[in-house]
Amino acid sequence: MERLDKLLASTGRWSRREVKVLVKEGRVLVDGVPAARAEDKADPAASRIQVDGEEAVIRAYTYVMLNKPAGVLSATEDPRQETVLDLLSPELRRQGLSPVGRLDKDSEGLLLLTNDGELAHRLLSPKRHVDKVYRIRVDRPLGEADRAAFAAGIVLADGTACLPAKLEPLGEGLEALVTLHEGKFHQIKRMIASRGAAVCRLERLSMGTLVLDDGLERGQYRLLTGEEVLKIGGKHEKKRETNKPAKMT
Ligand code: URA
Repeated sequence: MERLDKLLASTGRWSRREVKVLVKEGRVLVDGVPAARAEDKADPAASRIQVDGEEAVIRAYTYVMLNKPAGVLSATEDPRQETVLDLLSPELRRQGLSPVGRLDKDSEGLLLLTNDGELAHRLLSPKRHVDKVYRIRVDRPLGEADRAAFAAGIVLADGTACLPAKLEPLGEGLEALVTLHEGKFHQIKRMIASRGAAVCRLERLSMGTLVLDDGLERGQYRLLTGEEVLKIGGKHEKKRETNKPAKMT
């Protein structure tokens, strides 16, 4: 059993202080009965907890979609610079979330943060080739020769061979969509540099089945829906009272 304020704060939707107020106002029901105090305990795996009539899903793991702005590091902490964790609420910051893969400091767009280490490992595994789609802006028009070079597999300046990738120039060619099946350091910038051009702007639009929500402004975030969690291969299970290993005898 866990305290209601702790359980509800773990959803990232309310702070513990807000839960206190919700409970006081009679807006929190546990198995249909208004909770008396925020310190009351409930079983997250068995109790039905509702706030304003809506069931609160208390998951074992947290999955956050962030629309990363430029100028923020894809890291959990840094002594000098702002990180993507600094953009989250204190409740979410306490949940041990890490970004799944990196976007460069000046890159923008879809960043998944989670404390589901297994999922992060799977999504980043070079063997899985999870597709990532980016929209880029460049300093000279890209065309058919660039598309063909990406499709054949770019060799970077240091000799690293990239897997074949998709380049779809848009309009006059100063913008393009790029689909990668791997994730090397500064990969798109280096691929574009090998074509004698430079990336001016880079935004990630999707990662596997997860698509950036166009309702999120830069710097905004939201929890993944249950459907998104399942599709991306996350765990939909409810939080258990204890994850302690069984006692050895
Ligand atoms: N490729 C890059 O060069 N930078 C990113 O942030 C992502 C992909």
